[in-house]
Amino acid sequence: MVKPGGRQSRHTLQKPRGHRGAHRSRKNNFYKRLFQRNILAFNGSPRRAGNTTHLLREFLRGALEAGARAEELVAEELNLKYCRGCLRCNVLKRCSIKGDDWEAVSQKILKADVLVFASPIYFHHLTAPLKKLLDRFRSFIHVQITEQGLRHTPWQPWQKRVVLLLCMGSSNDADAQPVLDLFNFLGSVLGTSNNVRSIIGTRLAVVNQVTMDAEQLRALYPKIGLPESLAEEDYHRNQALMRNCYELGKELATAETLNRGK
Ligand SMILES: Cc1cc2nc3c(=O)[nH]c(=O)nc-3n(C[C@H](O)[C@H](O)[C@H](O)COP(=O)(O)O)c2cc1C
Repeated sequence: MVKPGGRQSRHTLQKPRGHRGAHRSRKNNFYKRLFQRNILAFNGSPRRAGNTTHLLREFLRGALEAGARAEELVAEELNLKYCRGCLRCNVLKRCSIKGDDWEAVSQKILKADVLVFASPIYFHHLTAPLKKLLDRFRSFIHVQITEQGLRHTPWQPWQKRVVLLLCMGSSNDADAQPVLDLFNFLGSVLGTSNNVRSIIGTRLAVVNQVTMDAEQLRALYPKIGLPESLAEEDYHRNQALMRNCYELGKELATAETLNRGK
């Protein structure tokens, strides 16, 4: 769980307030909480010091600095069973599987204003822990077979921002297309199609690479078969990538009021 840092210590540093000051502060805190964006991030990388984690941390840093509430869940650490395809959610309006974290996680998902999915690209797709999580989203949706195809209707209206932070080894981002297609589909089903934002890091292979300076990249590249001449350019590109994540976190923390799913 990521919490805004230093909140406690700031209080201890403040001068004692008079009655009026305390009232104003309580009022400000009330409005702050009312308009505070609620961000829920799923980290799908099995590498804790992986590039995906760095991108996500920058996003969350921006969001927290701008006043959002944020929580990061490591997908691999969630106790989630696989969707069994029982289809009972079509009647129950909830998942029938008991004895795992889905009930708690699904409540957090419904309450979030912004959902972040951070993942390395594994064989053109999300990592398995995130796919397992996403399959459980079936229980948010009623699905009907029609002659024209499937008709998907969410049980509750969704209006959330969805963010994809993706990392990949390839030098161009074509391998991420299946993930973008999946989220565009989910967006169209859940009503968030206009709100999917993505940031994709390319030519990233080893842990911490996105944070390396030009000299470190020059030393690394020949070892992984890349020309040293790319190091300088990639250093600046990686810096811009991290900055973009930070800025997006900031932007979405202060976006206009969003309607949460009920
Ligand atoms: C099992 C596996 C499959 C991968 N498949 C792809 C792929 O299809 N396309 C690609 O560009 N990179 C692929 N990669 C490389 C990773 O996406 C890349 O190294 C990424 O930056 C890792 O993120 P991380 O540092 O957060 O772990 C794959 C890596 C692994 C381990």
